[in-house]
Amino acid sequence: MLFKKNRSKASTNERPSLITVTRPSSVVAEQFRTIRTNIHFSMIDSDLKTLAITSAGPGAGKSTISANLAVTFASEGKKVLLIDTDMRKPTVHKTFKLPNHDGLTTLLTDRTAQISDIVHILKEEKLYVLTSGVIPPNPAELLSSKRMEQLKLELEESFDLIIFDLPPVIAVTDAQIMSSKTDGTIFVINKGGADKEMVLKAKELLDKVQANVLGAVFNRVENKNDHYYAYYGENK
Ligand SMILES: Nc1ncnc2c1ncn2[C@@H]1O[C@H](COP(=O)(O)OP(=O)(O)OP(=O)(O)O)[C@@H](O)[C@H]1O
Ligand SMILES: [Mg+2]
Repeated sequence: MLFKKNRSKASTNERPSLITVTRPSSVVAEQFRTIRTNIHFSMIDSDLKTLAITSAGPGAGKSTISANLAVTFASEGKKVLLIDTDMRKPTVHKTFKLPNHDGLTTLLTDRTAQISDIVHILKEEKLYVLTSGVIPPNPAELLSSKRMEQLKLELEESFDLIIFDLPPVIAVTDAQIMSSKTDGTIFVINKGGADKEMVLKAKELLDKVQANVLGAVFNRVENKNDHYYAYYGENK
């Protein structure tokens, strides 16, 4: 399958949140490799093909963590696709400086659209990216459609790992819908900014749809050596 090349000329220093690209030897990039290893360990007996990233409320760092994890998995030679599944507040195209007139919503609504024409390949990061596309009026309906199921199966045939960057669990049902369809879910907790009740409520909502929550990532953790990210193993 031939993919659309990234025509963006953005250099890595124009992508400050992509720390795994801009500072691959940093403590933070190392922590992303630790998260990758822990995800491998938590799925030792089953095939991990699809990974959902969500949080209780907004702004926890889901998109930042999704993008950096995608880069980290791609750097071990896996064919990784990052999908902006936050059709309400998409940011993946901004992070990777990509156009967003076509994307996931195009593939879900236009029967003639070809995956290879819509998915971007980022040569430098050896990563594939599907942006959200035009914001639809009915994201939850699109995500729970038969077409989405079919598209997911098609994409699973072409990629080793698919990472879904999702909206928060509490406000809308999108994250519940997608978490119930993926092999594993990672829950991002904004250290300091997260409300305990909201986190418990979100976990309850994920349990309700039998999401396989692999663990949580504490974001914005400060420690003596470096700050930002830390992995908090299994949480169930
Ligand atoms: N560890 C961090 N340190 C500093 N800034 C961070 C960190 N994590 C995320 N940010 C910044 O915080 C903002 C929100 O992060 P991000 O977009 O990843 O969150 P989100 O959970 O995807 O938000 P939303 O719920 O709106 O989708 C961004 O500007 C991002 O660059
Ligand atoms: Mg986001």
